[in-house]
Amino acid sequence: MALLAVRKARLLLPSFLEVSGVARSFGIDSSPTRLISSSLISRMLPSHAEPSGTAGMPLAAGSEGFSFARREFAAAASGQAQVFAPGTEAADKARSASLPSSSSPPQSAAKTVPASAPPVRDRLLVIGGNGFVGGHICKAAVEKGYKVSSLNRSGPPQHSESWVKHVDWIRGNVFEPPSWRHSLKDVQGVISCVGAFGSYETMKRVCGDANVTAVNTAAEEGVKRFVFISAADMGLPTFVLRGYFEGKREAERAIREKLPYGGIIFRPSFIHGNRRVGSLTLPLGLVGSPLEAIFKSSAGKWVHGLPLVGPLIVPPINVETLAKAAVLAAKNNVVPPGIMDVWQISRLAER
Ligand SMILES: NC(=O)c1ccc[n+]([C@@H]2O[C@H](COP(=O)([O-])OP(=O)(O)OC[C@H]3O[C@@H](n4cnc5c(N)ncnc54)[C@H](OP(=O)(O)O)[C@@H]3O)[C@@H](O)[C@H]2O)c1
Repeated sequence: MALLAVRKARLLLPSFLEVSGVARSFGIDSSPTRLISSSLISRMLPSHAEPSGTAGMPLAAGSEGFSFARREFAAAASGQAQVFAPGTEAADKARSASLPSSSSPPQSAAKTVPASAPPVRDRLLVIGGNGFVGGHICKAAVEKGYKVSSLNRSGPPQHSESWVKHVDWIRGNVFEPPSWRHSLKDVQGVISCVGAFGSYETMKRVCGDANVTAVNTAAEEGVKRFVFISAADMGLPTFVLRGYFEGKREAERAIREKLPYGGIIFRPSFIHGNRRVGSLTLPLGLVGSPLEAIFKSSAGKWVHGLPLVGPLIVPPINVETLAKAAVLAAKNNVVPPGIMDVWQISRLAER
């Protein structure tokens, strides 16, 4: 027993002296209690402990495909991680790049190679910024003081509200990336509001293909965050608006695949607020606001409790609430990737 204790002490002593010596030379308090407690703490913490900023932000239930570890998201959000599937060629390259090679000089002797500074990515690009939802998103972002661009085919909206002149209006078709790819250079986050109703083909193309093109182009240009205004399906029969929902889900798949760490999918139902049509303003809130209020009241809870009917009813959301949440999600790395339903969007807007 005594022999064992002496052996253990002989094993531990050099490493303790080594650590405390190095720590002292950096002016770090390396008292034994502190060293022991920090090592104990690090053993007790789960290896995937995440920064407090991401804790408590739930991933939406049913966020299929967003099942990667939150540890990886947290590291990626801080711009430090490059996550590769183990065993892939990319993983091998990354590993060997991180290991010091016998021929490479030690770190301290290596010459610093001056690199040209990458562009500062502090701009938001709203695709469809002259539409109903996109206009409110541009307005919310301008009011926050962000740099904002909008991409759409017809340029700025017809009205002249003060925020319009603070947006950089890019005329272009999302289906033609060469005409607008350059506008992504300094973009931190993209918010896509492209969608349409019409024939099956139109809806599939505009809700699906257009957004898939936008996602692919943004990912190729190194955009970190992408917010997609999708839609809740509300359990409608499959033949109702089939092209619309097929298109939306196709775009969602592209986001999960291409931007797994920064893709956020909003699934609202009816969005209400003031919609401008030419010189007219349609007050959609006349219907939407009372409905939203009902859902927020105790009566709303009763409706949700109804068998069959309840799950089909998703409350409407005010366009300003959704716009605020979209800007936050596109700018803020602590908003985790995944699907957000109308309740989560509302909660995010309250932050
Ligand atoms: N409104 C609702 O109640 C509601 C509910 C749930 C989900 N959503 C979704 O929210 C999104 C926004 O809806 P919204 O009501 O604001 O629609 P909207 O007013 O019709 O706006 C659509 C925008 O997309 C742009 N656009 C269309 N095709 C384009 C293309 N090929 N290239 C570039 N820009 C293009 C349009 O501008 P140009 O025509 O000038 O190109 C317009 O700015 C849609 O995806 C919709 O499905 C809406």
